[in-house]
Amino acid sequence: MNRRELLVSGSSLLAWLATSGLASAANAEVVAGKMEEDIRLPPLLDGRTGPIRLEAKAGATVFAGGAPSSTMGFNQSYLGPTVLLRRGTIPPVRVENGVDVPITLHWHGLTVPSSADGGPGTEIAPGAGRDVELPIRQPAATHWYHTHVHGRTAPDVYAGLAGAVILQDDDEAGIELPRTYGVDDFVLILQDKRFDGSGRAVYEPGIMDIMHGFRGDAVLVNGQLRPIAKAPRGLVRLRLINAATSSPFDLSLESGRPLVLIGVDQGLLDAPIEVDRVLLAPGERIELLVDLGQGEERLMAASQSSSMGMMGGNAGSAVLLTLAPDDGREAAVTSIPQRLPTSSAVAIAATGTRRRFVLDEGMGPMNMVRGLVGGSPVMTINSKRYEIDRIDFSTPVGAKEHWTIAANQMAHPFHVHGAKFQVLKNGGREPRPEERGWKDTVLVNGEAELAVSIDAETSEGLPFVFHCHILEHEDAGMMGQFTTQV
Ligand code: C2O
Ligand code: CU
Ligand code: CU
Repeated sequence: MNRRELLVSGSSLLAWLATSGLASAANAEVVAGKMEEDIRLPPLLDGRTGPIRLEAKAGATVFAGGAPSSTMGFNQSYLGPTVLLRRGTIPPVRVENGVDVPITLHWHGLTVPSSADGGPGTEIAPGAGRDVELPIRQPAATHWYHTHVHGRTAPDVYAGLAGAVILQDDDEAGIELPRTYGVDDFVLILQDKRFDGSGRAVYEPGIMDIMHGFRGDAVLVNGQLRPIAKAPRGLVRLRLINAATSSPFDLSLESGRPLVLIGVDQGLLDAPIEVDRVLLAPGERIELLVDLGQGEERLMAASQSSSMGMMGGNAGSAVLLTLAPDDGREAAVTSIPQRLPTSSAVAIAATGTRRRFVLDEGMGPMNMVRGLVGGSPVMTINSKRYEIDRIDFSTPVGAKEHWTIAANQMAHPFHVHGAKFQVLKNGGREPRPEERGWKDTVLVNGEAELAVSIDAETSEGLPFVFHCHILEHEDAGMMGQFTTQV
């Protein structure tokens, strides 16, 4: 038997061991029975003109009816406020830890010095706080923030230590786009959850969840199941953030009408692209326009198996969100802009230093044995497990590099801090529409070629990390570090 066959045959037994009792009929009822309610957007926290204060708190949240779940959030009981940022400002940020586990606050997508980035080296102990300044020097985009403590990122992000960022600039403001928060501009933070029979969200990943990625019973939007967003009968802007620990979501409209893709991780595309579906991997963001001119639309999500067929393809599509026209209000924008303001059209040449990173789930079968005896799996990049004191490479700020990322065993969403990249090839093909433009996270299928721009400086001896954004993999060691010099 080769290693792959061993992995597959081991997985049938272990899949049963790991999942028995989880997808019970009771869960299905919890998930099916929930009434649709109006969407609740996270409150805005305006960092354009004032300081940003975020405090991690513990709370209890009712998700799908039934019993409350233990959750965490920033300034509230689950998730955090949407932080508004503006290019050209340097807001002061105060983070306080009011929960009983260590946290960090990582700004996913912001290219800021490593002292402000909030990576694993910037732990804040329970009861403590940290002050940073956040220099905003990049284009308008949708980003997010989340805790990033090595070994506990998955459970703590699942519990809710995450929030959205809307970064604005003059170029974006000059384009006719919907931008009234909660009226025609919606932040949608996606997390899938598993429910026990009482409706409580649980996170007890088995070894197979850690190996192949944790999949929930339902996908929640800002903590709500199938909410309704009422909006004027015109264009609606959706800012989607995949904050799931490991599920990629395949998004489409139930009507079959196209989605209009206007932005990816690091900003707007140079022109809108009509697509039938988009795939959003953990860590990625997209901005879409949906036209309510024809009436109600339903945004659907299928939770895709990322293990390249090994676990049996896609789960069925389920309604994520209903967009309902509200004729009491006049639409601000009714026609799709032809051009969008961006520099992202210019692909950077794939020259410069070449690096190759192999993302691997370690010794697959050995990890399963470890799991059976209660150990945790070991995952690696270039055969090395993450260590907080090891620096894997060093490079100048401003460097343009050519990276090859190889994903073993399954598709892995690769993410890098302090840098951005363009996808040149992924799985031997041209990038999909949602893989165009500047990105910081990409679901690598087989091998991907990236043109990387190193944009931020490491400071105070803190490196940047690069890792798999399947948070279970990251926690198991699929992460490395680098420093930059000005
Ligand atoms: Cu979204 Cu290193 O993180
Ligand atoms: Cu990040
Ligand atoms: Cu991975």
